[in-house]
Amino acid sequence: MAGNSFGQLFRVTTFGESHGKGIGAVIDGCPPGLALAQEEFVREMARRRPGRGSFDTPRKETDEVEIMSGVFEGLTTGAPISLFIHNQDADSESYEVIKNLFRPGHGDYTYFKKYGHFDYRGAGRYSARETVARVAAGVIAEKLLEPAGIKIKAYTIELGGIRAESFDLEAADENPLYCPDSKAFERMEQALLEAKNQQDSLGGIVEVRVKGCSQGLGEPVFDKLDADLAKAIMSVGTVKGVEIGEGFGAARLKGSENNDSITPEGFRTNHAGGILGGISNGDEIIIRAAIKPIPSIGIEQDTINRHGRPARIKITGRFDVTAIPRIIPVLGAMVKLTLADHYLRYKVTREGLEDSF
Ligand SMILES: Cc1cc2nc3c(=O)[nH]c(=O)nc-3n(C[C@H](O)[C@H](O)[C@H](O)COP(=O)(O)O)c2cc1C
Repeated sequence: MAGNSFGQLFRVTTFGESHGKGIGAVIDGCPPGLALAQEEFVREMARRRPGRGSFDTPRKETDEVEIMSGVFEGLTTGAPISLFIHNQDADSESYEVIKNLFRPGHGDYTYFKKYGHFDYRGAGRYSARETVARVAAGVIAEKLLEPAGIKIKAYTIELGGIRAESFDLEAADENPLYCPDSKAFERMEQALLEAKNQQDSLGGIVEVRVKGCSQGLGEPVFDKLDADLAKAIMSVGTVKGVEIGEGFGAARLKGSENNDSITPEGFRTNHAGGILGGISNGDEIIIRAAIKPIPSIGIEQDTINRHGRPARIKITGRFDVTAIPRIIPVLGAMVKLTLADHYLRYKVTREGLEDSF
């Protein structure tokens, strides 16, 4: 099962399963000399952990990150940094009744067809639990971005068809859905509680903004910054669409409307979402992700069993009503990992240029 690593110079590999011993990440390529302590993971891990709202899975994990290697006397050494997070509250029993059935909308069917097995206990590698490793790795990526003045903010702009209409980004962290519109938040929360009562689930849209990214990140042609960001975001379960800047809206604009005029002071508008020709243009990077509703629902559905026979499935395990807000720190982490990698690649290019003049 390949495909567990991401990035070129700042390279992250994740390992572990939802109901195994734990989940971990190995970060290869982190420069030496960065201060790193166990406590620094606490805030981001808490943001991903269930429990901000009654719509999150009741699974309780402390998500304490153990630094296993790559740090000496509080500083990164340049060697691979390995991080481990124990699974403590995996309850496999509730999945026994559906162990031979494929959950509609989940990865069971495709994993079984490809590998001849699937982890009915909570999805193994294709569980959202895997994303805990990405969030931990993102904390290290941020150590490279912060001194460069690069700041990432992710928040909810739509949930269950309810859109945020005002954007007080500073206030977004104050409600459990990270919604910048406090009125829309109340309606979203109501919609979630209704969906929960109906044993159904909801999707939405998350926006991520990057401020302070200098010009020049991105490697044409296959590793364009927008291409790598799209891959990073799409690699998270439930994400079904990614837009940069104007995104799909650009298809309906004229060139004269979509182009961002250039002035000596900078771009007049930002339809490009901060990236031109696959390279950051110095403007704010704007990314949106479409999140599908959680596949595990309590409503009875049609499916088949391992032998291809028709069956009915009613899922009774623990699950979220929506991937939002828990996906927010995960998407933030994926953007951090992409930018940290491209930042190191950018520095190599710039150093090469400086040497040749
Ligand atoms: C933060 C987060 C939480 C999730 N929680 C659940 C859950 O409780 N139950 C579930 O069935 N799927 C959950 N998922 C979704 C599945 O992981 C995902 O839908 C599944 O792997 C299939 O992948 P796909 O949706 O990309 O096709 C969650 C995803 C994320 C990102």
